[in-house]
Amino acid sequence: MQPIIKENPVILGIESSCDETAAAVIRGRKLLSDEIISSASVQAIYGGVVPEIASRAHTDAVDTVVQRALDRAGVKKEELDAVAVTYGAGLLGALLVGLSFAKGLSYGLNIPLIGVNHIRGHLSAAYLEDEGLKPPFMTLLASGGHTAIIHTKTEMQFEVLGGTLDDAAGEAFDKVARVLSLPYPGGPHVETLAKEGKNVVPLPKMLKGEGGYNFSYSGLKTAVINYCHSKKQKGEEVNRADVAHSFQRAALDILVEKVVQAAKERAVDTVTAGGGVIANGYLREALQTACKKAGLKLVLPSKKHCTDNAAMIAAEGLVQYQAGNFASLSLNAQASIPLR
Ligand SMILES: Nc1ncnc2c1ncn2[C@@H]1O[C@H](COP(=O)(O)OP(=O)(O)OP(=O)(O)O)[C@@H](O)[C@H]1O
Ligand SMILES: [Mg+2]
Repeated sequence: MQPIIKENPVILGIESSCDETAAAVIRGRKLLSDEIISSASVQAIYGGVVPEIASRAHTDAVDTVVQRALDRAGVKKEELDAVAVTYGAGLLGALLVGLSFAKGLSYGLNIPLIGVNHIRGHLSAAYLEDEGLKPPFMTLLASGGHTAIIHTKTEMQFEVLGGTLDDAAGEAFDKVARVLSLPYPGGPHVETLAKEGKNVVPLPKMLKGEGGYNFSYSGLKTAVINYCHSKKQKGEEVNRADVAHSFQRAALDILVEKVVQAAKERAVDTVTAGGGVIANGYLREALQTACKKAGLKLVLPSKKHCTDNAAMIAAEGLVQYQAGNFASLSLNAQASIPLR
């Protein structure tokens, strides 16, 4: 039976692709609640996410986090119009916890199940920031596993103009953090340390015009590692703040340059962004300055909605709901979903 499509449905979003168990409720584009239980502090002991620990933590947290989201929203589960859940990409065991829970709710409440691609979720975080936001827009995606420039033409149609050829921006931050003896996840710690440093460490240039809209982070990451090692071998002290600052500039300036260039080239007047790296204060300011200079409107998700969260999954769930794109109970978790 095809459900009746409401204009402002109440949707529960559930996210469990990595180390965050999250649930959020929206009514139309209005965010009613947004809850997270994270196992990041446990994962930090191991310097990265241990899949089995993540799965167990999700199993312990999912019931609580969903109930909290419903309570904070003041919504009874019987009032939900749909349940949207991340089905990929991510850690299989972790995804299965959220997906199974969502299937149970969908079946028990007789409401549609919506399978959400985690990356489409990051792209939809911007919808929560600006109720009037409509495609076309150009998006900078920079997360732990992805870096890309994406032209969203309509809610359901997008084109990837370019992406990373090797490491993702967030991954580079995490690896450089490790070299600088900073804890996991590295991005926020590199950002804090960079504030005390200067742009004085010689690092290779990133792929500029010749790279089109592609990126490459492995050379930059290796250059940071080599710089630190050779300093140590010579018995010289490494100025960690200068390394963090110089790396951050090199890693982020190119993202700003390319997304603005892409918007101009495609004559799109709005730029949006998504993914954990977009929480970086230096990047946010640089995007604001560059978009203002180029006469482009910029819609940035709040920092909380850049890293993994369920509000963005509910927001993308709304896009799929309005398109009548519902999943069956046989929907399976997928470890990877290609961007293109
Ligand atoms: N302030 C910051 N500056 C730079 N990087 C940051 C900052 N905050 C978070 N990050 C980085 O963002 C990444 C986490 O983002 P996110 O949660 O979107 O990634 P993910 O879900 O693991 O990957 P994906 O979404 O690609 O599957 C980490 O690599 C983290 O270091
Ligand atoms: Mg993510």
